[in-house]
Amino acid sequence: MSRNHNIAVIPGDGIGPEVVREALRVLARVATQEGFGVQTTVYPFGAEHYLKTKEILPESAFDEVSKHDAILLGAIGDPRIEVGLLEFGIIARLRFGLDLYVNLRPVKLYAEHLCPLKDKGPEHVDFVVVRENTEDAYAGMRGFFKKGTPDEIATQEIIFTRKGVERVIRYSFELARTRNKAKKLTMIDKANAVRAMDLWTRTFAEVGAEYPDIAREHNYIDAACMYVVKNPEWFDTVVTSNMFGDIFTDLSAMIQGGMGVAASGNIHPGRVSLFEPIHGSAPKYGGKNVANPIATIAAVQMMLDYIGEARAAQRIEAAIASLLRSKRVPSLATDSGLSTTQVGDLVLAELEQPVRV
Ligand SMILES: NC(=O)c1ccc[n+]([C@@H]2O[C@H](COP(=O)([O-])OP(=O)(O)OC[C@H]3O[C@@H](n4cnc5c(N)ncnc54)[C@H](O)[C@@H]3O)[C@@H](O)[C@H]2O)c1
Repeated sequence: MSRNHNIAVIPGDGIGPEVVREALRVLARVATQEGFGVQTTVYPFGAEHYLKTKEILPESAFDEVSKHDAILLGAIGDPRIEVGLLEFGIIARLRFGLDLYVNLRPVKLYAEHLCPLKDKGPEHVDFVVVRENTEDAYAGMRGFFKKGTPDEIATQEIIFTRKGVERVIRYSFELARTRNKAKKLTMIDKANAVRAMDLWTRTFAEVGAEYPDIAREHNYIDAACMYVVKNPEWFDTVVTSNMFGDIFTDLSAMIQGGMGVAASGNIHPGRVSLFEPIHGSAPKYGGKNVANPIATIAAVQMMLDYIGEARAAQRIEAAIASLLRSKRVPSLATDSGLSTTQVGDLVLAELEQPVRV
């Protein structure tokens, strides 16, 4: 495998460029430490570019971005622009266009003081959520009839395909096996009310029969929200649909310390994949140098692991973990008293510590 990696970078809007700037400093440093090459190509797509050119993500740019080894994204979204236009035109375009069917969201607490739950520590919060990433209401099959009149009807279809459900469930069973933790896969759905989710129930049972070493568990989404607050230690590997995963992982992010630490990978195994913090562009904090960059640095960690640089990924995780355990970052919110740059500096300083991996 080549140790020269070409990374497409889309810093995007709001706090995106600031957190990406810090993550790229970390990427450059671990590349030197581990002796691999990295070339980054930065793309301007996002609100400013759209306002200047009316371009969202042209086909030629989509093709170019797709030819890289991986993509790093900051965040997309700006209140000056119609809701969803850029999010759909850039994030969803990449997720659907590259068929990134796995949205992988690790939920790991590194230090007890960052957890808002009473009497819960790192030994209680360590699970991973696999969110289906290409179907559900997000497929964009929607419409308005008699728009703007008192008789208006709005519809949006939830779609699930056998192929889409099966591949994400299979990925999750494999993941539960490699994690080698509780060897348990929990499926979260709402099959009692959203009857189309019977497809998930049946597929989970059928695919699960091929994995007798993995215990199968099932929660409805409402109960899962309760359990993750009450007993997060019950979860090991979780698989769920696009919308439930979207919501469940924001809740989960808070118990690992907040939006400032939660990262994700949008993955199609074996193909070019995209890594990003799970947070959005937080427009009111954009340009203020107060957003925490650790989520984006953790996204770089996931990206390096994906492209075959496991040691560099472990270095980053060790640096994040030891920094957070040291309590020098009192919180991961925007009012931590530390600037985006200062947190970046602290992670870089941790990277200089002897390797503990
Ligand atoms: N993948 C993406 O790019 C993505 C994801 C979610 C939302 N969005 C878009 O982002 C815009 C803003 O959405 P929102 O306000 O609902 O969600 P958001 O995640 O941008 O911000 C919500 C709150 O989370 C906190 N927060 C977020 N990132 C943080 C960080 N790095 N450090 C510390 N605190 C942080 C802030 O308190 C912020 O007000 C919208 O346009 C939305 O569509 C984009």
